[in-house]
Amino acid sequence: MPQAFSDMQSLRELDLWNNKLFAGIDSLRGICELIALRVLNLAMNGLNDHTIPKCLGNLSLLEELSLWGNELKGNLPVFSEMQRLRELDLSSNNLSAGIDSLQGLCELKNIQDLDLSFNNLDGRAFPLLCLSNLSKLETLSLRGNDLGSYSSALTGICELTTLRFLDLIRNRLNDNSIPKCLGNLSLLEQLHLRDNELKSLFKLTGTIPSPIFQNLTKLRIISASDNQFNDSISFSTFANLSKLVHIDLSNNARLEVETEHPHWVPTFQLQSLLLNNCILNKRGGGGIPTFLSTQQSLKTLEGSCSRLRGTIPSWLLNNLTVGSLILGGNSLKGPFPHSTQHNNSMLQELDISDNIIYGELPSNIDTLFPNLIVFNMSQNELKGTIPVSISKLQMLGMLDLSQNNLSGEMPHGLIGNNTSLTYLRLSNNKLQGNILSKFSNMTELEVLLLDNNGFTGTIASNMLSSLSLKILDLSKNNLSGFIPSWLPLLMNLAILQLDGNSFNGPIPLEVCQMQNLHILDLSNNKIAGSIPSCLPNISSWMKEISIDIDISFSQVDFRVLYKLDLNYYVDTLYTRVTTILTTKGMTLTYEGLPLSLMTIIDLSMNQLTGNIPSQMGHLKALHALNLSNNILSGPIPESFQNLESIESLDLSHNKIGGTIPPQMVQLYKLSIFNVSFNNLSGAIPYENQFTTFKESSYTANPHLCGPPLQRSRSCNNSSQPRDNKEEEEEDDSTILDSPLFLYLWVAIGYILGFWGFIALFANENWRWKFFSTVDRCFDCSYLNLHTFGLYLKNFCCN
Ligand SMILES: *[C@@H]1O[C@H](CO)[C@@H](O)[C@H](O)[C@H]1NC(C)=O
Ligand SMILES: *[C@@H]1O[C@H](CO)[C@@H](O)[C@H](O)[C@H]1NC(C)=O
Ligand SMILES: *[C@@H]1O[C@H](CO)[C@@H](O)[C@H](O)[C@H]1NC(C)=O
Ligand SMILES: *[C@@H]1O[C@H](CO)[C@@H](O)[C@H](O)[C@H]1NC(C)=O
Ligand SMILES: *[C@@H]1O[C@H](CO)[C@@H](O)[C@H](O)[C@H]1NC(C)=O
Ligand SMILES: *[C@@H]1O[C@H](CO)[C@@H](O)[C@H](O)[C@H]1NC(C)=O
Ligand SMILES: *[C@@H]1O[C@H](CO)[C@@H](O)[C@H](O)[C@H]1NC(C)=O
Ligand SMILES: *[C@@H]1O[C@H](CO)[C@@H](O)[C@H](O)[C@H]1NC(C)=O
Ligand SMILES: *[C@@H]1O[C@H](CO)[C@@H](O)[C@H](O)[C@H]1NC(C)=O
Ligand SMILES: *[C@@H]1O[C@H](CO)[C@@H](O)[C@H](O)[C@H]1NC(C)=O
Ligand SMILES: *[C@@H]1O[C@H](CO)[C@@H](O)[C@H](O)[C@H]1NC(C)=O
Ligand SMILES: *[C@@H]1O[C@H](CO)[C@@H](O)[C@H](O)[C@H]1NC(C)=O
Repeated sequence: MPQAFSDMQSLRELDLWNNKLFAGIDSLRGICELIALRVLNLAMNGLNDHTIPKCLGNLSLLEELSLWGNELKGNLPVFSEMQRLRELDLSSNNLSAGIDSLQGLCELKNIQDLDLSFNNLDGRAFPLLCLSNLSKLETLSLRGNDLGSYSSALTGICELTTLRFLDLIRNRLNDNSIPKCLGNLSLLEQLHLRDNELKSLFKLTGTIPSPIFQNLTKLRIISASDNQFNDSISFSTFANLSKLVHIDLSNNARLEVETEHPHWVPTFQLQSLLLNNCILNKRGGGGIPTFLSTQQSLKTLEGSCSRLRGTIPSWLLNNLTVGSLILGGNSLKGPFPHSTQHNNSMLQELDISDNIIYGELPSNIDTLFPNLIVFNMSQNELKGTIPVSISKLQMLGMLDLSQNNLSGEMPHGLIGNNTSLTYLRLSNNKLQGNILSKFSNMTELEVLLLDNNGFTGTIASNMLSSLSLKILDLSKNNLSGFIPSWLPLLMNLAILQLDGNSFNGPIPLEVCQMQNLHILDLSNNKIAGSIPSCLPNISSWMKEISIDIDISFSQVDFRVLYKLDLNYYVDTLYTRVTTILTTKGMTLTYEGLPLSLMTIIDLSMNQLTGNIPSQMGHLKALHALNLSNNILSGPIPESFQNLESIESLDLSHNKIGGTIPPQMVQLYKLSIFNVSFNNLSGAIPYENQFTTFKESSYTANPHLCGPPLQRSRSCNNSSQPRDNKEEEEEDDSTILDSPLFLYLWVAIGYILGFWGFIALFANENWRWKFFSTVDRCFDCSYLNLHTFGLYLKNFCCN
């Protein structure tokens, strides 16, 4: 490599990012001979203070140097020769480890663009940077450091009077961190304060006219979302900032934003206004800001969860510029906003979910909003049918009309051959008809949620072809017929919920070919026959594999307005799919485990017969198994001891016989266990996790014995053959049932001495061994012990 460089002395640009150049210390030295270099990119190369060539400083013509994503600690090249350097990117290194050596940056007198993001820099670092010497600095990014950790951490920042862009995102800044003199930065165009700990926006903006914003007349972007503001701000503060295009005050749940009073006239034309999750116009009745009607370039308005009331003005929907309107989670009331405009609306994203919109959707929705990509009207009071014209929306990618009162049939085109939909959710309505009556080839569809409706008919023929389908929920409808054997054609299907229908016939063996299946819910149907033994063919139940169910709408590009704040918008481009999963008899909340890793088999409430296949014990990555309320017989397979991920196991209401395999006490993740209403017999294993299960886990198994059952009954009479060791333990367990047990235990503890007693408490295994021993040495039957206990009781209580 070094030799290779020597012949390239007139090279002007060199891009080596994302290699492994740290491999040899000398491997980069040759770079210093490229004296004509103007642009050098060494990002993501694992470079550290030793492997970075010190001679880089000799590249005196260099104008752009990128070193982000390395392991530099501050022992940087001497920059004194690099008088032409305009851009230096040192983000994502570990510069906090060598703050003192950062002074070398002071020599970069002509630097315009400096990026020190994500370097763990704390408040002490800032003064050391001697930024005041950088008299041409225009862009400064300090995102993702810890500058708020010392008070007055930003001292000196006001001297950067040439600054146009300042990024202080995610720095734990508090009210004392922001100096009042920030208003001196009169050239500032972008101020990014998102994700800090600021409490008082008022303190920041002060009285009207605001000391800080008064002079910042060049300001284009203010982002101050995700702080802890708990005071109020009037938009009149911004009135004279005629260059403003973007304001983001979202996620300040206690911030009151007043847009109506005092009277003001905006001199700016906003492109985006983000006021999610704050308190909008509390005094003015929660109305949508009226000044917006003067905004002729508005592209994005977000005001979800902002306690908005009143109606949605039709001028907002009619406008020619608005591309994204997000008003979910408010109390906006009225019919779907009447619109007179046709076919030239720019609206791409419309979310009025979780409001009180009633009546029908407009029948000409395709001409009203021909550009819709995302449409969410979930959780409203919509009635009537879904307009047929909705399937003519050529670009519609995501449609959520769940939780309304929609009735009638689903428009055929919606999931027809030509659908552009990626995500369709019509759950919780009153829709009817035969949904999948015709074959359709949907290449884009990933999520189809039609649960809780009145859909009828069968899905017997090969009618659904969507290689990208990941989630299919048809649960709680009136579907009937066989579970289709062509399902494996849906190669990527990860979640299949067909529960709560009238499907009959057997579980097709073909199910076992569905390699990506994570959740299979066929419960509450009329499925008969036996459980296929081939289930271990499904690899996602054998080892943990995550499904990728983030749906991105790459077409929604209007949000990516500002190059320098890209990350911010990328954050919001993903829509996470969360399906609430309930398993019969109990609502399982899987805290901590993302849906993408959840694995469930639920075959409960059917008419399944035969044995539980022992192969099911191989499903090592399965988290929940529910086979309850069937007619299953035979034993609990011993192989169940291998279900190492299982958290919930419900086998209740069957005809399962035999004993509970004692090795199952190894299943230390098991927290819900139910085998009630079966024919089980013998001793209940009572160790580890199993000591946490209550009697209700075992009720109505006439031949089960031992704790936690209340009945005191010896297990000796049990008809099941068992080895001696087990018998012994069962005897003990009957003793444990005795109310006198406690006194006995206290007395024995007394005899053994305090520490022996504690040890007994501490380890349940020891406790068992101990009682076996006691049993033997006293050489007495249960009756004897009983008498002895009675004696002790009298002894202790008097
Ligand atoms: C860098 O420049 C200095 C002085 O100009 C010189 O002494 C040194 O040898 C140079 N280093 C390299 C690696 O060229
Ligand atoms: C910073 O600038 C001051 C005054 O212009 C100067 O005295 C000082 O040496 C400079 N510091 C460095 C490290 O260049
Ligand atoms: C900053 O502005 C204040 C007035 O708010 C003024 O007193 C001060 O001199 C200014 N500082 C600089 C460095 O310009
Ligand atoms: C805006 O400017 C006008 C005239 O220049 C002035 O009267 C008014 O007080 C200013 N408003 C604010 C909020 O600074
Ligand atoms: C605004 O700028 C003027 C003149 O440039 C200055 O006198 C005044 O102190 C500045 N105000 C603030 C709050 O920085
Ligand atoms: C709001 O912030 C002030 C300080 O600015 C503080 O005293 C007060 O307790 C805060 N209120 C709440 C509810 O956090
Ligand atoms: C809507 O567009 C018209 C021009 O067609 C404009 O006058 C008006 O201010 C715009 N309103 C909004 C809210 O963007
Ligand atoms: C848009 O609407 C106008 C008038 O309503 C009509 O003439 C035109 O054909 C429409 N364009 C499209 C693409 O539908
Ligand atoms: C639609 O809105 C509802 C309510 O705000 C929300 O829960 C749901 O996730 C949204 N749908 C999609 C696909 O984002
Ligand atoms: C989809 O196209 C196929 C032929 O490619 C056709 O048989 C089928 O009926 C079409 N389905 C719908 C719903 O239009
Ligand atoms: C599918 O789209 C093509 C053109 O995009 C069109 O010619 C065809 O008629 C459409 N088919 C259906 C069933 O809508
Ligand atoms: C589905 O459509 C795609 C392209 O739209 C085509 O390549 C594929 O062959 C079709 N599949 C079926 C089963 O018709």
